[in-house]
Amino acid sequence: MADSLSSAAITASLATRFIGQRVIYYPRLTSTMEVAKREAKRGAVEGTVIVADEQTAGKGRIKRIWLSPRGNIALSIILHPDLVYLPALVMLASLAVVYSIETVTGLKLQLKWPNDVLINGKKVCGILIGSDVRGNRVDCAIIGIGINVNLRLADFPELSPIATSLADELGREVSRLDIIRHLLVEVERLYLALLSGESLYEPWRDRLVTLGRMVQVGWGKNRYEGIAESVARDGSLRLRRPDGSLTTVVAGDVTLRDHER
Ligand code: BTN
Repeated sequence: MADSLSSAAITASLATRFIGQRVIYYPRLTSTMEVAKREAKRGAVEGTVIVADEQTAGKGRIKRIWLSPRGNIALSIILHPDLVYLPALVMLASLAVVYSIETVTGLKLQLKWPNDVLINGKKVCGILIGSDVRGNRVDCAIIGIGINVNLRLADFPELSPIATSLADELGREVSRLDIIRHLLVEVERLYLALLSGESLYEPWRDRLVTLGRMVQVGWGKNRYEGIAESVARDGSLRLRRPDGSLTTVVAGDVTLRDHER
């Protein structure tokens, strides 16, 4: 399958007004987040996308490294939202990934709080939201999306118990171009819906596999265990602790204890 990416191939007749109308493509770079930040500082127009075939210093959440070899999708989208919309960007990105991959592949996806996308309990996509905020003003927000597309997890035995790829799930290669173009359309649709007052909270909440499960949440040196009872509209997780108390966690890393993943 011919699967080469280029700015022209991504933008050609793309059905969006501004998301992905400007695409900067790199065969190889450090991290699309870094380049997006630089472009945003230079005044990049809203919707500018940085996409790479390969990242040499891909960034994950909590300062982790994100493995980003050729064959996967690594992209960042520059936005200029008002401050009030920042907490919803992770919901927006998660839903856009779910809807676009489901449309292109027919696979069924789930979300794990706070921002992992899973297939059959294994991680297929990670999302990173970066922002530069000064006072009440958002200079820029950057949505980073990494999708395991044509990665073969057999080549990465240390990851195969917890991660999967679209190709591994389907037993065939998948067009990255197709996924990226659907993804950009979904991001714009959901972004415009958000700006016009629509809530992304309910569809996001309804996709979370985390709710109702016994979980351990790690945040820095802290570890909290309990039942993931609900999520608040700002995206935070409410955890019912064994002593009956309720703890609200705004960020962290979840392990599903009844499943160990
Ligand atoms: C995570 O699950 O830890 C988040 C991973 C986010 C990875 C993407 S790949 C595109 C963008 N550029 C990066 O360096 N990171 C994000």
